[in-house]
Amino acid sequence: MKEIINFINSNTESFIEELKDLLRIQSISTLPEHKEDMEKAANFVAQKIKDAGIEKVEVYQTQGHPIVYAEWLGAPGKPTVLIYGHYDVQPADPIELWNTPPFEPTIKDGKIYARGATDDKGQMFVHIKSVESFFKTVGKLPVNVKFLIEGEEEIGSPNLYSFLKNNSKLLKCDAVLISDTSLWDEGVPTLTYGLRGISYMEIEVTGPNRDLHSGTYGGAVPNPINVLAEIISKLKDKNGRILIPGFYNDVLKLTKQEKENLKKLKYTEKEFSNSIGIKKSVGEKGYSLLERIWSRPTLDCNGIWGGFTGKGAKTIIPSKASAKISMRLVPNQNPKKIEKLFSDYIKKIAPDYVDVKISSIHGGSPFIAQLDKPIMKIAAKAMSLAFGKETVFMREGGSIPIVVEFAEKLKATPVLMGLGLDSENLHSPNEHFNLNHFRLGIISSAYFMEELSKI
Ligand code: BES
Ligand code: MN
Ligand code: MN
Repeated sequence: MKEIINFINSNTESFIEELKDLLRIQSISTLPEHKEDMEKAANFVAQKIKDAGIEKVEVYQTQGHPIVYAEWLGAPGKPTVLIYGHYDVQPADPIELWNTPPFEPTIKDGKIYARGATDDKGQMFVHIKSVESFFKTVGKLPVNVKFLIEGEEEIGSPNLYSFLKNNSKLLKCDAVLISDTSLWDEGVPTLTYGLRGISYMEIEVTGPNRDLHSGTYGGAVPNPINVLAEIISKLKDKNGRILIPGFYNDVLKLTKQEKENLKKLKYTEKEFSNSIGIKKSVGEKGYSLLERIWSRPTLDCNGIWGGFTGKGAKTIIPSKASAKISMRLVPNQNPKKIEKLFSDYIKKIAPDYVDVKISSIHGGSPFIAQLDKPIMKIAAKAMSLAFGKETVFMREGGSIPIVVEFAEKLKATPVLMGLGLDSENLHSPNEHFNLNHFRLGIISSAYFMEELSKI
């Protein structure tokens, strides 16, 4: 391993230069005008995997954005690792809040700034470079390796589900290695063992058939913005409990052991509030901060619009108002079931003098890992060796909907070897990635393959 680690340490600079090229590609999956950039990013990733030393690389077209698949099966009798990641990124706006342009990667104080730096281009790239480091030193990998890099994670992976279903033989593996989550803290090796799921909904309320003069008509016309606000106000009570009937029915309670594990992770209200500039945290009564973020479901408006929002005043009663509402789900909630409960409740509480349209944008299931699997121990050891500290275990409030499919459809153990930090502004302006974590991530990935080959 010494030779491989030396190679990684002495080539980190050039690895970073290559990562910069990937970060320059504006692969924003949700925006149709970036379709070509999606192709470009997929081909770039495919080429980098080839350059790393894997010959069999394929770019699969889908109804949406391409999927990159690669495999090297030169270690017969050894386990197979599937490395999953995503090359798509979130939109960069609001652009004016970036200190440097989002698609011109800039290094400052050991961090690389760009959209996608930590989520997920930087983290995903780690594994391409660990593979390359094996090939360019010892000429082979200690285990069999497959890559599955998609371009639709940020929009709910609509085409990956069927790809998985139709290619279960191709994707057959023992473990799925994923770096798309966070470290507990800077320099602290971390494995994530739980992810929340999601149901993402949109509501559109329609009142009059056109915008109306608010003087001529005001006082006698249902205002869709007011109605929408009333609806939203009925979704939660003042103790932060979600009022949708049946919403909590399937929620798994934390085990005693988990509660104890949570207590061990020192995290204060102050630290949290200060880090994001809020006066104090809010949420469901009776649960600690980490419990609320990791193990309880939520309901939040993500966006709301309608009427006149330009500068100055325009006196109208709008025809329409809309809101995007997401619910984060926890084991054992089911996104389809929650969608239905949500729709039924909205229909029930909406007044009959407006039209309400409810649609689902995307959904994904929550995930919880079995910590006693040998592969988890190997992953913990690998990270500890790389970071020089004991690995901690945490859950995550965010979602990676496809993870549960790896466990259920491929019967493989997902290993969430995250390398980001929650403070690295993923989905926000000035996203960045700690370059020391990038290097230590490559070493962790290499150790993982090495240790896995020993069982
Ligand atoms: N990498 C994130 C998940 C994540 C978020 C990990 C926060 C660690 C900390 C992933 O790319 C993501 O953003 N997922 C979406 C999924 C959604 C679009 C279905 C999310 O959680 O909003
Ligand atoms: Mn991600
Ligand atoms: Mn993301």
